[in-house]
Parts: sequence; structure tokens; C-alpha cells
Amino acid sequence: MACRVIAISGTPGVGKSTVAKIVSRILNAEVIDLSELVLKRHLYSDYDEKRKSYIVDEALVKKELRTLISRCGDGKEYLIVEGHYAEIVDEKDLEILVVLRIDPRELVKRLCIRGWSLEKSLENGEAEYLGICLSNALEEHPREKVCEIDVTREDPELVAKRIVDLVRSRVKCEPYIDWTISIDPRELWETATKYCARDMGKDGETRGEEKKG
Ligand SMILES: Nc1ncnc2c1ncn2[C@@H]1O[C@H](COP(=O)(O)OP(=O)(O)OP(=O)(O)O)[C@@H](O)[C@H]1O
Ligand SMILES: [Mg+2]
Repeated sequence: MACRVIAISGTPGVGKSTVAKIVSRILNAEVIDLSELVLKRHLYSDYDEKRKSYIVDEALVKKELRTLISRCGDGKEYLIVEGHYAEIVDEKDLEILVVLRIDPRELVKRLCIRGWSLEKSLENGEAEYLGICLSNALEEHPREKVCEIDVTREDPELVAKRIVDLVRSRVKCEPYIDWTISIDPRELWETATKYCARDMGKDGETRGEEKKG
């Protein structure tokens, strides 16, 4: 029997891979990192020189995921799929889609400190501010399957435990975070200018790939 998928989404840098690894340990489930999968299996249609990122071929990713999900089983109940477009998982395979959210000022600071350029750090901070991953999730899946967790200043171990509780108890969760109410967008720029080196950034090359469309 195929596994049920626990999808973990969120803006680049929010902590998806860190949390997914802990969840995988607790549930004895494998993790598919979508960025790694796309590169390893060449599931892209093009390379954007300017943005230094691959253009993901969604149809190829979906096909590959279907194969991996159907092969999963053999004593395993769950498969974890993580990436900033984890909503790509087919509705019928999806148990739950958790969108990790973070105070966008904290994210900008973290990306700057990781060496990302001011432009890329700000771009991702703005995506988080606007809740892009959440709205993508809600476009693809019913509300009952979409959860949010605010990971700002949270220990990844505790975040992982929250995800396991959500999966095990099947409690209903509602999307609830809207940074635009509590944060002035100018603070993102202020944070970026404070923490990012203006001309030493990696220009987001670590992000690897982006979804088409
Ligand atoms: N809860 C946390 N608190 C503080 N730092 C964290 C937390 N979670 C992750 N980090 C750190 O933030 C960085 C990004 O984490 P991680 O690679 O897990 O994010 P990601 O969402 O998978 O990013 P990407 O989209 O680039 O793959 C790492 O240096 C990690 O150690
Ligand atoms: Mg990651």
C-alpha cells in the first residue's frame, strides 16, 4: 500500500529540512527534499541564468513523486515531502500539508547571515510577509488539510513534535497567520540593510530551483 504524505512547505530558509529530518526520525519515515530530487533526477525544463535557478518541470516532478509514493510502504505509513512548493503533492496522496511560517524580519536576518544577497533575502522576506506559500497551498488543497506553524524563535524539535501531534491526532487546524497586520513592510528593508552585505552575497544560488508559472 502507498504511504500517506506529510508535506512540509514554507519560504526558503524557514527551516523545512531541519524539521523534516526530526519528524522522519520520530515517525520512521523517509524524506524527499524536492530541491534535491529535482537536481538529482533532472526534473527541470530550463536554467534561468539571471536568477541562477532551475525552472522546475511540474509534470515530471508529479510523475516522479507518484512513483516514489506508490513504492513506499513496506511497513512504512508515511512519506515526508518537503520543499517550498510541497503543495505539488497530489490531493489523494496528501495526509496533511504543514506550512512553516516565520516572522519575515527574522527570516531576512537569517538569510543575510547565511550569506544571501540583500536582493534575494528581501525577496524571500517579502514572499513570507505576503504568505505566498500559504496561498499556494490553499489554491491546491482543501483548508482542512492545510496547517500553519509559526516557527519564529521555536526549537525545531518542538516544531517537529507539533507536526507529529497534528498527524497522529488528526486535529483540525486553520490557517491563521497574516504578517501584514502586525508588521510594517519597511522593517524588512531596514533589517536587510542592517544585516546583508551589499555586494558579497551568493545571489540566492543555494535556493537551487523555482517552480514555473
Ligand atoms: N527553528 C530554528 N531556529 C533557528 N535556526 C533555524 C531553525 N530552523 C532552522 N534553522 C537554521 O536556518 C537555516 C535554514 O534551515 P533549513 O535548511 O532547514 O531551511 P529550509 O527551509 O530547508 O531552506 P531551503 O528552502 O533553502 O532548503 C539553517 O542554518 C538552520 O540551521
Ligand atoms: Mg531545505
